Amino acid sequence: MSTHGKPRGFTPVHKRTSVRCAAALLSLAVVFSGGTMAANAADSTTLTDIVLGVGSDDSQRNLAWYSTSDTAQVAQVSLASKVVNGVFPATATSFTATGGLTTSGEYNRFVTVTGLKENTAYVYRVGSEGNWSATNTFTTADFDGDFNFLFFGDPQIGSSGNVANDTAGWADTLNVATSTYPDAELLFSAGDQVESATSEPQYEAFLSPNQLRQIPFVATNGNHDVGSKAYEQHFNTPNVDRAAGAGSATGSGGDYWFIHKDVLFMNINSNSRDFTSHIKWMTDVVAAHGAEAKWSMLAFHHSIYSPAVHATDADAVDRRNNLPTTISNLGIDVVLQGHDHAYARSYMIRNGQKADAAEAAGADSVVQGPGGVLYVTANSSSGSKYYALQNKPEFWWLSVQNQEQVRNYTALEVTDDAINIKTLRSQGNATNAVNSLVDQVTVTKAPDTDTQEVQVTVPKADAGEFGWSIDGTNKLVDLGTATESGDHYAAVGTINPIRVTDTRVAGPEWSISAQVSDFTSGDKSFSGKYLGWTPTVVEAGGGAVAGAKVKSGFEGGDGLSASSTLGSAPTGHARGSAKLGAGLDLQIPVDVTDGTYKAVVTLTALS
Ligand SMILES: [Fe+2]
Repeated sequence: MSTHGKPRGFTPVHKRTSVRCAAALLSLAVVFSGGTMAANAADSTTLTDIVLGVGSDDSQRNLAWYSTSDTAQVAQVSLASKVVNGVFPATATSFTATGGLTTSGEYNRFVTVTGLKENTAYVYRVGSEGNWSATNTFTTADFDGDFNFLFFGDPQIGSSGNVANDTAGWADTLNVATSTYPDAELLFSAGDQVESATSEPQYEAFLSPNQLRQIPFVATNGNHDVGSKAYEQHFNTPNVDRAAGAGSATGSGGDYWFIHKDVLFMNINSNSRDFTSHIKWMTDVVAAHGAEAKWSMLAFHHSIYSPAVHATDADAVDRRNNLPTTISNLGIDVVLQGHDHAYARSYMIRNGQKADAAEAAGADSVVQGPGGVLYVTANSSSGSKYYALQNKPEFWWLSVQNQEQVRNYTALEVTDDAINIKTLRSQGNATNAVNSLVDQVTVTKAPDTDTQEVQVTVPKADAGEFGWSIDGTNKLVDLGTATESGDHYAAVGTINPIRVTDTRVAGPEWSISAQVSDFTSGDKSFSGKYLGWTPTVVEAGGGAVAGAKVKSGFEGGDGLSASSTLGSAPTGHARGSAKLGAGLDLQIPVDVTDGTYKAVVTLTALS
């Protein structure tokens, strides 16, 4: 039997670096405050609604803005380190904008910024020569490793009838959340950004907080957004498929995905109940990109496991009847939702049913077995509207529900082994302070017995001293930092031992073989053939014998990229148990780019 797990494993080695970058960003923000360049008198184009969006992966950012004239425009991006005395660098890279007439009679502009480096501070501006926007800043973090991001329920600016109040609540929640989590890497909306899909004043109010130009924003198409093309004209979403979750002649649509670090994010337009289309799209995305990330998260606006008035809507029931089995089958870990303006966290749900009958309400840690999915429904982040809990006994899915009519936000911290989800009040009330906890839960995966992962760090060519260690306490085998050895880098380690027990009477033969994938680090990779091994019987028993040594393919051959025997026992072997191990030998060409690379070793038992 062989099961191919998603690649897993990274070490949070650069986490402090991203904190330093956040500090750099703050100081730059001071340099550029009020830094709007003087407009050329001949060009009165007004540039508004600038929003920094997430890109297809960590090396990209998507920008969007509105313009009052249909002029040729660009986004200019530069290393922040090139700024001298507040002057925007002449060496900045220009990215030509696309776009056209919007439904409000303005013109939108989209740019995808590419080629970004990790742990780097950037400055950018949009417009044209003589008429530039203010300078904005953003920083990239490591392209791998632990991270956190912030999730916000239905801002729905204008829903209370008072745009200014709703905007103040939204801005305050962003301020509380980003000052509590200064290294947050995404601002993720549950949808219903505005009350009225055609209202440009509401869009301007929604986009007014500066964080939306500094931290990538992830938009979701809600029922209040869909009734105009303005949603898709304002938000430049990556890898969008407008046939899946299609809009209408006058309404927005489309499903999209992106990868951030070790998470594949999918975002579907749940206004469309063309489930066949959504399911095919999600299935295709997971087939094409699921192996590039350890975790996967899905977001859509209309919660299917919520606690308030919308939970019993006919359209919610329809989605609840049609989506959960696919979501389980695709191995999605967490689903982020909104629409019900009340907080809910589900039990782990598999195929539309509680996965583990023994899971206690409000458990602060849950283990995700096969097909288990956690569904989170966010309360309002702006305070523009709240719905009361229904407290219906048939809402079997609710592990935690909360409605105190105070604004919330949710911080998700993703590590190699777990996703921690904390929901906090961004507004105090009589009994609870700002940033007090509404709910928290940690999701971990049940052990997977068929794969383990090998990781190695390739140093920069001029690196001096390195240290490395072997971690045999979990499924990650860390080969540490490779050391230069003549014409190649070398690293060694041992796999986590495999115990084999065979108590069958006839003693039929068995063998365990293994094969390694390519090593990858973001877009970079090198062949798994460079890994070789020397199998050993660590603990004898049951007639087990070690497989043959396989040399690294550095000097020729396929190495462990071809299936190789770790150990076996012949027909008629004694009953018993053995422990198999192997010493790993990695030899990599010196031209491999530096980075922390991972590969998956898939083990297959035959008998
Ligand atoms: Fe909604």
